[in-house]
Amino acid sequence: MTISLHEFIQGLPKAELHLHIEGSLEPELMFALAQRNGVTLPYATVEEIRAAYNFTDLQSFLNLYYAGAAVLLTEEDFYDLTMAYIQRALADQVRHVELFFDPQTHTARGVSTEIVFAGIARALRQARQEHAFSGSMILCFLRHLSEEDALLTLQAALPLREQYADLWNGVGLDSAEVDNPPERFARVFAQARELGFHLVAHAGEEGPPAYIHSALDILQVERIDHGVRAEEDEALMQKLAKTQMPLTVCPLSNLKLCVVDDLSKHNLARMLRAGLCITINSDDPAYFGGYMNANFIASADALDLSRAELVQLAKNGFCASFAPAEQKQLWLEELDAFASSTH
Ligand code: HPA
Ligand code: ZN
Repeated sequence: MTISLHEFIQGLPKAELHLHIEGSLEPELMFALAQRNGVTLPYATVEEIRAAYNFTDLQSFLNLYYAGAAVLLTEEDFYDLTMAYIQRALADQVRHVELFFDPQTHTARGVSTEIVFAGIARALRQARQEHAFSGSMILCFLRHLSEEDALLTLQAALPLREQYADLWNGVGLDSAEVDNPPERFARVFAQARELGFHLVAHAGEEGPPAYIHSALDILQVERIDHGVRAEEDEALMQKLAKTQMPLTVCPLSNLKLCVVDDLSKHNLARMLRAGLCITINSDDPAYFGGYMNANFIASADALDLSRAELVQLAKNGFCASFAPAEQKQLWLEELDAFASSTH
């Protein structure tokens, strides 16, 4: 079958490994939840919300992202939020998501960890039943807060581990990166590792390559979220290529947060061509202008990615996931069948 490049991208089966569920809160749903919960937003219309999404750096985004999350109060809210994301993911041929969630953003407002888990899990389990869609949950610690707070957050969530054993399998590190290096969270990551959780951390988005080194060497993470500043350190690039350490790159996020000023200058194609395990992801799609297909299409157009490279990026997503080996094999076979039946 002959199809266009964009149709090829749309049809490609994908896995998403870097998605903050709170960052998938579209202005329409933010408005609806504000009304449902009697929360006052500092915006009169959905258009006003969208107009405010003009970011200059990570912090300028985080300010609005945490403010927007204030409408999330009940289990139903977290269910609706997650279900809305799943619908977008299904439309983009996403087969698997390992979603991030930030309990501290919610417990600080009096919303319990139990409510957050229950709403997200109900949506993920329903999607597993009704569609060929799987998901898991990665609990992220906010790095602008203390390690003590992160330790308490892990403690508060542990009683839920058994109940959500089919979903919660990892911990991560997000929020304001600069001046909050990974090593500040060495103890909580060591504890999570001993408990058998998968480990990931944001590093090298705005922070220097040294933060990628410490995420790897001190936290012992299995994937680096973003990691685009690795290119400033040749020895680190060699190590990432040699170990096939996955980087969960988020092109439209990098553009919106001014990590790059033009997608044609994004280094993801160079890093892919240098043999690194690069994946494409949407990060906070409601804030950054697009879900998975939009990220793939914008990257392909700006960087002249070939179909073989797009297949490699999609494969990397499945291979770098924490799903069982037999499941990965099935996805890779589906991907190969799709790629070889189109041109
Ligand atoms: N970086 C750090 N923290 C975040 C991000 C991000 O891109 N999105 C949501 N929290
Ligand atoms: Zn992120």
